[in-house]
Amino acid sequence: MFRVLSAFFHFPYFTLMDIMHRIHDAACYYKYKSFRQADLALTKSYLLRNPYAMCRKFFTTAKGKESGANRVQVIYGETFCMTFELIAHRLNIGPHDIFYDLGCGRGRGVFFMNALTGAKTIGVEINPDFVKKATAIQEKLALDNVTFKEESIFDSDLSYSTVLYFYGIAFNDKAILTLIEKFVQLPAGIRIVCVGFSLNDYYEEELFEDIDDFPVFYLWGKTRVYVCQTKGDPVDEDLSAQIVSQLEQNSQE
Ligand SMILES: C[S@@+](CC[C@H](N)C(=O)[O-])C[C@H]1O[C@@H](n2cnc3c(N)ncnc32)[C@H](O)[C@@H]1O
Repeated sequence: MFRVLSAFFHFPYFTLMDIMHRIHDAACYYKYKSFRQADLALTKSYLLRNPYAMCRKFFTTAKGKESGANRVQVIYGETFCMTFELIAHRLNIGPHDIFYDLGCGRGRGVFFMNALTGAKTIGVEINPDFVKKATAIQEKLALDNVTFKEESIFDSDLSYSTVLYFYGIAFNDKAILTLIEKFVQLPAGIRIVCVGFSLNDYYEEELFEDIDDFPVFYLWGKTRVYVCQTKGDPVDEDLSAQIVSQLEQNSQE
């Protein structure tokens, strides 16, 4: 009884806007069978659990604290399906893609992007409770192209991705700079979608190629997402010059 009452009264995600979006999502996106099944399973699984509270609580536990206060985003929030849909459309995400949601929470977006685009989707999440529940649903629905990893995005191997989604508005600058260092070392051509800021905002030098930016909606209102593309390892000019001169020498011989 206490859980029922506390779930009801603590539910910031029982806001009118959120309820309207859920109705909208069911009307527009339940035509995708795997998303419908996953979303209904998620709703059932979280009926008496509040992901906002679960997120906050995890970071007060020893494991949560261990992850480093400046390397986590303790504020929960989910991306609307229509926002994911717009991102998928603008980036032309399809079955050839490997899409990562960095800090995927309950994994709703990971299930949705897989159902919508056919891409292989991977959710990276530090909170074991979210990962356990999402994995149980993925296994029950036998969705081979959906994976959840319980790890910090700072430690995750992202080199096989083609699109990274980073809803990290509440990460501090130190954490974002650490991530930029990680992203810069990724192979060329990976598109990184950032909510509310561009990865190029942090340095004078343009470390990533600016691809696109456009307005989208989140629970708090309208904002922009910025799409950058990794450039890969910087060209070693000395090495290039050596190779060219070696080739010229070979052709003269
Ligand atoms: C704002 S929610 C985003 C949910 C989801 N990406 C979406 O758009 O619907 C942020 C999530 O990031 C997770 N998180 C915070 N720091 C993290 C870290 N260092 N590594 C992995 N996940 C992290 C939190 O537990 C939380 O579930």
